[in-house]
Amino acid sequence: MERYKCALPAGRACARVSVPRSGKSMKKRGKAGQQSSGKPRERVRVLITGGRIQRRIQALAQEIRKDFPGEPLHLVSVLKGGVFFLTDLARNIPGEVSFDFIAVSSYGQKTHSSGQVRLTRDLDSSIEGKTVIVVEDILDTGMTLQYLLRLFQQRKPKHLRVAVLLDKPERRIAAVRADYVGFSIPNEFVVGYGLDYAERYRNLPYVGVLLLGPGLKKKPAED
Ligand code: IMP
Ligand code: MG
Repeated sequence: MERYKCALPAGRACARVSVPRSGKSMKKRGKAGQQSSGKPRERVRVLITGGRIQRRIQALAQEIRKDFPGEPLHLVSVLKGGVFFLTDLARNIPGEVSFDFIAVSSYGQKTHSSGQVRLTRDLDSSIEGKTVIVVEDILDTGMTLQYLLRLFQQRKPKHLRVAVLLDKPERRIAAVRADYVGFSIPNEFVVGYGLDYAERYRNLPYVGVLLLGPGLKKKPAED
């Protein structure tokens, strides 16, 4: 696995992923990806295969358990994108694991500095005294994570750590970092494995770059 200089504590590894120039594309599902109703064509170019995702998650799960041996772990995932990552991560962490869900919505320009994230669903139970791992699909500008970390710190967990499947360091605005990173990716808009475009593509078992329009250009990440 290619080592990549990333914003992780010494000794932790994250994999860097580059976008293939002519990688495999999602096969047309009937007319899917090439909508006949005058809508723009869409395709997804595979960036990280399902196999690579699973292998990386197994390694992350072992790393997390090694950091907290014998300790009950409370995974908190952000709906909806983080759900696939949470379930696969939880299955691979040995020992006692519980989990809970939170939902937030972003509004306004994400490029503005603060106050843009709103809680839409709170956790079911208290995290006081627990070892909490926040499980997110992707760390982009960092605004969501910054909001969540502030919120969770006030609730006095024993430990608070962050696991993200994907990290787009180039897009960071908020000064946050993840303790466990699956893959560091370029500044591309990606879908699959929980990540959506207008609520679609979450069910893809891999992560891919979304290509839009008649010429199938990459979707700008800042949209
Ligand atoms: P942040 O607050 O900018 O770090 O963004 C976090 C959220 O934005 C993620 O949890 C995703 O829901 C969404 N997001 C960011 N980048 C992408 C992407 O490339 N594809 C799909 N969703 C994304
Ligand atoms: Mg998310």
